[in-house]
Amino acid sequence: MRKILLVANWKMNPATLAEARKILRGIESNRRVEVIICPPFLFLPLLKGAKLGAQNMFWEEKGAYTGEISPLMLKNMGVRYVILGHSERRKYFQEKEEMINKKLKAALKAGLKPILCIDKISQIKRDLRGISRKERKNLVIAYEPLFAIGTGKACSLEKAKKMRIFIQRNLGYFVPILYGGSINSQNARDYIKNAGFQGLLVGGASLNPKEFIDIIKRI
Ligand code: PGA
Repeated sequence: MRKILLVANWKMNPATLAEARKILRGIESNRRVEVIICPPFLFLPLLKGAKLGAQNMFWEEKGAYTGEISPLMLKNMGVRYVILGHSERRKYFQEKEEMINKKLKAALKAGLKPILCIDKISQIKRDLRGISRKERKNLVIAYEPLFAIGTGKACSLEKAKKMRIFIQRNLGYFVPILYGGSINSQNARDYIKNAGFQGLLVGGASLNPKEFIDIIKRI
């Protein structure tokens, strides 16, 4: 059986490496749950023992792109996953679907597994333009409704389940679909057991070790 994917999106936290290491203490994958930690870029090479993902990347392999990180750099650093198209990137950095599409193609080419975040069905079509069915086998999709991100108001199970089914009918059942938006230890299990998601993308609660360990135990 496929493991439940539990992705921790630390966003721009914490401020020090010592804190980052502290958060990680006691957090482990087990037979049922695969934990992927997505810290800020700076901490990626410094966190040992965790399966790692990046929160973003550029689409070119190398070159004159000040301030950017390439898929190859991530791959060579042992990073396996990359979150792409997060709503905060779409909102604060004006990432458009064409950009996300380029990033997805570059990530797949480099052998990274993209975790594509969407909040509307219409985004999927444009984000995935030109990506073959075969390549889609390496994708993970995270359904993250805007109103639920960081608000404490998670999406209703009914609506989330509807979206999950719709996405899987469109993309194929081989693509794991995660739910993200105000997940905590109290509601995490419902999205797996009752709404049928294959995993979760957790923001705020992933910075609280006790809460995050509780999520691992309960799902
Ligand atoms: P949240 O964030 O769990 O804090 O709502 C989720 C996300 O943005 O991925």
